[in-house]
Amino acid sequence: MLNGWVLAVVFITVLVSLCNPRGVSDIAFSSSNPPSFSSPFDFSETLHLFSFLSTLQYDFYRQSCPHAEKIVSSSMALIHSRRQDVSASLLRLFFHDCFIQGCDASILLDPTTGDDTYSSEKQAIPNLTLKGFVEIDQIKEELERVCPRVVSCADILSLATRDAVVLAGGPFYPVFTGRRDSTRAYFEEAMAELPRPDDNINRTLYLFAARGLDERDMVSLLGAHNIGKIGCQFILNRLYNFSGTSLPDPSIDPEFLNLMRFKCQEKEHNNTHVSHDQVSPASSPTPEASVETLRRSTLGMSYFQELSPSLSLEGGFDTHYYKSLLSGRGLLYADQQLMADENTGRLVKGYASDDGSTFRMDFARAMVKLSVLDVLTGSEGEIRERCGF
Ligand code: HEM
Repeated sequence: MLNGWVLAVVFITVLVSLCNPRGVSDIAFSSSNPPSFSSPFDFSETLHLFSFLSTLQYDFYRQSCPHAEKIVSSSMALIHSRRQDVSASLLRLFFHDCFIQGCDASILLDPTTGDDTYSSEKQAIPNLTLKGFVEIDQIKEELERVCPRVVSCADILSLATRDAVVLAGGPFYPVFTGRRDSTRAYFEEAMAELPRPDDNINRTLYLFAARGLDERDMVSLLGAHNIGKIGCQFILNRLYNFSGTSLPDPSIDPEFLNLMRFKCQEKEHNNTHVSHDQVSPASSPTPEASVETLRRSTLGMSYFQELSPSLSLEGGFDTHYYKSLLSGRGLLYADQQLMADENTGRLVKGYASDDGSTFRMDFARAMVKLSVLDVLTGSEGEIRERCGF
C-alpha cells in the first residue's frame, strides 16, 4: 500500500515537472534577471516527453525480475566503495550512449571482427577515453545469474548511472524502465554528432536542441563536469596555440592559464595531444593507436579539486563548476563557451548564485529527459545476454 503511494507521488512529481520544464527553479531567476525562453509551456516538447510513458514504465521488471533494481543498486554501492570515480565514468558513458541514437546501449557493443574496422561506437574518437564498461558487464553478469535474458543493458546503464549520481552526492531522479538493446552500433553518428571539447556555443546548442534538449537542459547537464576529470589532451590546444594564433585562448583567466600550463606540462603536449581534427578514421593512426595514446596520458584536471576547493567543502554536485566558468576558469573551451551566449551565461549565473539546489533540480529533470531519448521498447531491438555482443 505504502509502495503504491510512493509510486504515485514519484509519478505525479515527474509529470508535474515535465509539464513545467521551467518549474520551481524559475523562482531563482528573479524578474530582474529572467531566463529568455520563448514559452513557459512548450506543448510539442511536452507531447514528445509524454510519448515515452506509453512504453517505458516505472519498475518495469517488478514481475519478470523483481530484484533487478535492488541488484543494480547494491552492485553499484559495492563498486563505488572501491572506486569512487565510477560515478563520473558511468555518467559520461550514459550521456554518450543516449546522445547517439538514443539510450539503447549501442555504446557498449564491442567491435565486430572482420574487415569492418569502424564497426563500434567505442572506436569513435570522442569515445576513446570512456570508462565504466567493465562495471556494467559486472552488473549484467549478476543479473543474468538471477534472471537470464530479462534485463536490458540499456536499462542497466540507465539505473546504474542514476545510482552513481546519487552515490556521488547528486540528486535522485526516477528512472523509467523497459528499454531494449540495439542490435547495432553507430560509429559514423558518434564521430559526427557527439559534442566536441573545442565546439563553440552555437554548435553545442544545435546538437542538444536536435535532441529536444533546450538551453536549460544543456547548461544543467554540463554541470556533470562538476565531477570527474578532464584529461590534458582536451585542454592543451587552449594553452599555447589556440586556433592557430600562436597565443593562448583569450577567454582563460591569466592566473588560471599558468595553473593549467603547470598541470598539463608541455612535454605531455608533444607526446599525447590528440584532437578530433588530427585523428580521423580516414587520416591518422589506427583506433588502437589512438586509444593507446589517449590512455597513456594520465594528466588531467578536475573542476572540484583543482579549481575551487575554497568554494565547496564537499565534492560532487554543487555550484563550483558554474562559479569556475564565471571567473574564466573553464577547463574545456566548450565549457567556457557557456559564458559566450547571453542566455546560457544567464543560466550559469543563476546556477552559481544559490547553494546548488536550483542546479540539482534542473539536472535531475534534464537527466529524466536524457534517459528517455529515442528508447527502443516492445519488440524493437533485443535483450543482450552480454552487453558487449
Ligand atoms: C558540450 C558538451 C560536452 C563536451 C564537449 C564534453 C566533453 C568532455 C571531455 C573531453 C571530457 C574529458 C574526458 C577524458 O578526459 O577522458 C569529459 C568528461 C566528462 N564528461 Fe563531458 N562533455 C560534454 C557534456 C557532458 C554531459 C552532458 C555529461 C553528462 C550528463 C558529461 C559528463 C562528463 C563526465 C562525468 C566527465 C568526467 C569523466 C571521468 O572523469 O571519467 N559531459 N567531457
